[in-house]
Amino acid sequence: MFPRKGAGEKEVLGELEEKTSSDLTFDSGRILGSMCTYPHPFAVEVVRRYIDRNLGDPGLHVGSQRVEEEAVEMLSNLLGLKRGYGHIVSGGTEANILAVRAFRNIAEVERPELILPESAHFSFLKASEMLKVKLVWAKLKKDYSVDVKDVEAKITDNTIGIVGIAGTTGLGVVDDIPALSDLALDYGLPLHVDAAFGGFVIPFAKELGYEIPDFDFRLKGVESITIDPHKMGMVPIPAGGIIFREKKFLEAISVPAPYLAGGKVWQATITGTRPGASALAVWAMIKHLGFEGYKKVVKKAMELSRWFAEELKKIPGVYLIREPVLNIVSFGTGNLEEVEEELKKRGWGISAHRGYIRIVMMPHVRKEHLEAFLVDLGGIMRYIT
Ligand SMILES: Cc1ncc(COP(=O)(O)O)c(C=O)c1O
Repeated sequence: MFPRKGAGEKEVLGELEEKTSSDLTFDSGRILGSMCTYPHPFAVEVVRRYIDRNLGDPGLHVGSQRVEEEAVEMLSNLLGLKRGYGHIVSGGTEANILAVRAFRNIAEVERPELILPESAHFSFLKASEMLKVKLVWAKLKKDYSVDVKDVEAKITDNTIGIVGIAGTTGLGVVDDIPALSDLALDYGLPLHVDAAFGGFVIPFAKELGYEIPDFDFRLKGVESITIDPHKMGMVPIPAGGIIFREKKFLEAISVPAPYLAGGKVWQATITGTRPGASALAVWAMIKHLGFEGYKKVVKKAMELSRWFAEELKKIPGVYLIREPVLNIVSFGTGNLEEVEEELKKRGWGISAHRGYIRIVMMPHVRKEHLEAFLVDLGGIMRYIT
């Protein structure tokens, strides 16, 4: 009920504390199945300071708008492009929707179709429904990467573009983006790479010596990339990123936005009013950690994943779905639903999906958390089988 009279801050906060006491928190170390993490304290401070900035009305906040442009430029550089065009948006979902929207508007075909891997994130279902674009699913190979031959077989005159994934949601698999890029160039189609998760992992992991396919703008067929700072970038939610190689894609989704206090602008994002603080936090985190700082975070996460994968193999009845590519380890068991339920009862933030449980080594996940998880899992497996 909407209260008639307000209560004191202390009382309201006390009530909130009580109501959220059933939440799992990242610092508890119990959340192992999420692509989010506790944000970096410096980014939290930046958000706090600039909480009032609205990039939906950039004429008022021209300084913040410039910072967003610089953040987009730095992300473009990380992804192999001197200058890209895009925005810091609400997350991977919005970024993917914007890419599909750009491809559809540029293609101008009557019955638009988008070819994407069966492993694609559900955000494309939303894009399809909103934009009236038919999704054409391409099969996966045994290693769970997309079958590029099947992608080619599905190209028609209605195809508006192709999607490849650099870090799938379930398994962290990186598709053969070089082959998809060649295909896209051969057929004159744009390729969108969903690197919502992998964007803040792959560039650093590659420099650390991990063998991962190229996935970014260095491949000429790649026209757009989703990269989310609120995942491995350690920026507070909401902070996603969409980068286009060419300005025409951004222009194709821009609508005039009159009546703004700061003057008329063209707006490409789905959200109108949107947090400038997010863009500023992205900029600040990149400046603060730099390539070397992120590389350290990724090194730890990748090493932990390899260690964890080996430990899982030692538990009878537990099997890896595939060897980890990034910092995601997914495993199956007999009686998976029962195992999932037991783990949840013990307070673990995990879920089973498509026949496996996914563990994501986010920056808040430490070895001792995983050790405790392995003890619980081992116990459950002994009792269930
Ligand atoms: C590959 C991929 N793309 C897109 C998304 C959607 O991101 P968000 O939840 O930030 O909208 C996710 C989220 O997990 C993802 O894994």
